[in-house]
Amino acid sequence: MSQETLSNLLQENRRFAPPPELAASANVTAQTYEEAAADRLGFWERQAERLTWAKPWNEVLDWSNPPFAKWFVGGELNVAYNCVDRHVEAGLGDRVAYHWEGEPGDTRTLTYADLQREVAKAANALLELGVRKGDRVAIYLPMIPELPISMLACARIGATHSVVFAGFSAEALRTRIADAQAKVVITADGQNRRGKHAALKPTVDDAVASTPDVEHVLVVRRTGQEVAHHERDVWWHDLVERQSTEHTAEPHDAEHPLYILYTSGTTGKPKGILHTSGGYLTQVAYTHHAVFDLKPETDVYWCSADIGWVTGHSYIVYGPLANGATSVIYEGTPDTPHQGRWWEIIEKYKVTLFYTAPTAIRTFMKWGEEIPARHDLSSLRLIGSVGEPINPEAYVWYRERIGAGRCPVVDTWWQTETGGIMVSPLPGVTEGKPGAAMRPLPGIVADVVDDQGQSVPNGGGGFLVVKEPWPSMLRTIWGDDERYVKTYWSRFEGMYFAGDGAKKDDDGDFWLLGRVDDVMLVSGHNISTTEVESALVSHPKVAEAAVTGATDPVTGQAIVAFVIPRGNAGADVDGEEFVAELRDHVAKTLGPIAKPRQIMVVPELPKTRSGKIMRRLLRDVAENRSLGDVTTLTDSSVMDLISTKLPSAK
Ligand code: WT7
Repeated sequence: MSQETLSNLLQENRRFAPPPELAASANVTAQTYEEAAADRLGFWERQAERLTWAKPWNEVLDWSNPPFAKWFVGGELNVAYNCVDRHVEAGLGDRVAYHWEGEPGDTRTLTYADLQREVAKAANALLELGVRKGDRVAIYLPMIPELPISMLACARIGATHSVVFAGFSAEALRTRIADAQAKVVITADGQNRRGKHAALKPTVDDAVASTPDVEHVLVVRRTGQEVAHHERDVWWHDLVERQSTEHTAEPHDAEHPLYILYTSGTTGKPKGILHTSGGYLTQVAYTHHAVFDLKPETDVYWCSADIGWVTGHSYIVYGPLANGATSVIYEGTPDTPHQGRWWEIIEKYKVTLFYTAPTAIRTFMKWGEEIPARHDLSSLRLIGSVGEPINPEAYVWYRERIGAGRCPVVDTWWQTETGGIMVSPLPGVTEGKPGAAMRPLPGIVADVVDDQGQSVPNGGGGFLVVKEPWPSMLRTIWGDDERYVKTYWSRFEGMYFAGDGAKKDDDGDFWLLGRVDDVMLVSGHNISTTEVESALVSHPKVAEAAVTGATDPVTGQAIVAFVIPRGNAGADVDGEEFVAELRDHVAKTLGPIAKPRQIMVVPELPKTRSGKIMRRLLRDVAENRSLGDVTTLTDSSVMDLISTKLPSAK
């Protein structure tokens, strides 16, 4: 993308005004943008007042040593106290914090009072194991209540947690434990996955065999499957259950490290993204309140992400709990025991606010709209998306089939590194445009710049950057300040480089166009994979598409597409005619420059465990190379399925 800026191809003119009732009582109004622009630090200071501080700050932001930020300097608070105890003290102990639903159908309800007791016990247990303020604790747990309880217990005593997604391998776990020098690992015997018990403990045994810093492994019994017992192992039910339900939370510095979360990125060793306490909690609480229009007394909120990703950290655990929300947590997969499980859960708990990812939405499009149609989803009043650019057609499907054409869709752009939502519509203020994340939130200064770091005019494309520090920003890469500076703050002088391509439309609203690494260069035009994918998904027979650039002797790179047909697309979707129809459709939608050279109809796409399409592997296929590293794939058999399709490639 260094030669020229991104070609701006997609025209999408559908518009959805905020529902009047929502707008009338919305938590945030248009005026907030002005207030925040007039006095940005004052704005964040007011948002920090949502929290309970043991000691007030004496400076909002210390940016004297950029890019190393300190927010709410001198302030002290306890994150777990803010998420749990203070609600109980305010008389809300009986409010449900989590409706937990296990995959096999078992359930647990945790009120804020229950959560307070559980977190206190777990905090006391960690202390008994010798964990102290500043120590690191690795957490390798499935989506069970002990996961948020463990995180909060760490936060409470000032230990820094490092949650590792429970689908990662022993090697991935080992490198993360070693990098953070974790003293304790919290895990479970196993987890429920698609109706089966999948073991977790052997993976931990494997990982800790060569991590000498680990003193104890604390094991939750979830599946009851047999586990090997080592001297360092302790059962949760033996240790935690006998602890006192009393624990006094000490305040910690606003900049005390709250957690490390590893992001693998596309190359190199995983980066341990470090988040701290006061600024982080301020921004996740504020954005959860503003973007989801949360009314904690009446809303039931469900974010379907795994807590092992940042979405779960910020919008299942810290943001919602800081706001005293009632949330749903679901342990399992969306198709167990049937493809309507999620909609059944929404119906059962009368979920009002729902937050999921484009990859899930496109899967539901593939399964067919008759599945959600069997359930009563009328409790929903707002639906959100995160993780990838949402294709306009997926947005409209989501709005109509899940949101009954009534619920606003909030497309929220952010990253593990940003800690909280940065660019998003405000549901009571912003008109919805399918495929656009719209505007930086109040208090956030983001822009789209060209190669030279100059702001692009409306209608232009380039790179998404953040121009001022924000409260929930990463503070560094754990143990590697230099890599922090180099990765995020060196591409453009004085700006945070997010690594995403973006464009501004004629109104100045932002459209995210995918990772800069994925942009294709076709006959001298930079074309975004996202736009071509969206054009393909706008064909009524396509559920999902992935596009990559393959070396081409004539055009430099040529567009190669992989498409999954919709469930109701009929039998003739494998033939040449269908492929020709799709190529024409893209040419009509975006222009002839974007017409794929080749389209392959496939049953599945390669995805990372967090649901992002791995275009790098598709490029290997398209260029007839042997496949690169497939270890982060959810399901490596997908690549075999795709390879069998190759002979029919056009
Ligand atoms: C990358 C960050 C943030 C929580 C989940 C992912 C992409 C995320 C959007 C969106 C377009 C999006 C970006 C970003 N992304 N949300 N609404 N529109 N792209 O966290 O794993 O750190 O990934 O996800 O490419 O850089 P992550």
